[in-house]
Amino acid sequence: MLLIVWHSRTGAACAMAEAALRGAMSEGEARAVPAAEAGPDDLLGAQGYLFVCPENLGTMSGAMKEFFDRCYYPLLGRIEGRAFATAIAAGSDGSGAERQIERIVTGWRLRRIAEGLIVNLGAQTPEEIRAAKVVPAPALQKCHDLGQSFGAGLAMGAF
Ligand SMILES: Cc1cc2nc3c(=O)[nH]c(=O)nc-3n(C[C@H](O)[C@H](O)[C@H](O)COP(=O)(O)O)c2cc1C
Repeated sequence: MLLIVWHSRTGAACAMAEAALRGAMSEGEARAVPAAEAGPDDLLGAQGYLFVCPENLGTMSGAMKEFFDRCYYPLLGRIEGRAFATAIAAGSDGSGAERQIERIVTGWRLRRIAEGLIVNLGAQTPEEIRAAKVVPAPALQKCHDLGQSFGAGLAMGAF
């Protein structure tokens, strides 16, 4: 079972999570849960995790961080060795969010099974930042493929 935990403010990371879910479900069991609703039991019930969120002010979005804050200690030492990957929606960077998630899940001793995926949409001005986002098809395809290969690996027992 692949668990996708996601947060999105203007739709990009939501579309990315949905694309990844479609890919994962073509290979096996998967579910996507919004960060605000995801809890320790959701993670305990999955063998792999895909974390999907925007970069905000150089780090993961606050709602995503709240999920980790809530779940970190209840799960410490209980999910060691499980697989993870990340997909970050960003304006022009995304590396800060990716790095921060990596640092946190290192404490859980998770294993990265795919290179971090960052989708840059180029929003820079206040108007562009608050506009609803349309993720281009090639980027959604990458999210789909990530979900598919993650799901396939889990189904085969490779991860
Ligand atoms: C408060 C705020 C801060 C942001 N900071 C960054 C940033 O540090 N680096 C970056 O690349 N993009 C930044 N962005 C742009 C978002 O990451 C980008 O618009 C992303 O596509 C939003 O994803 P979402 O549609 O899933 O909410 C910021 C957006 C907001 C609203």
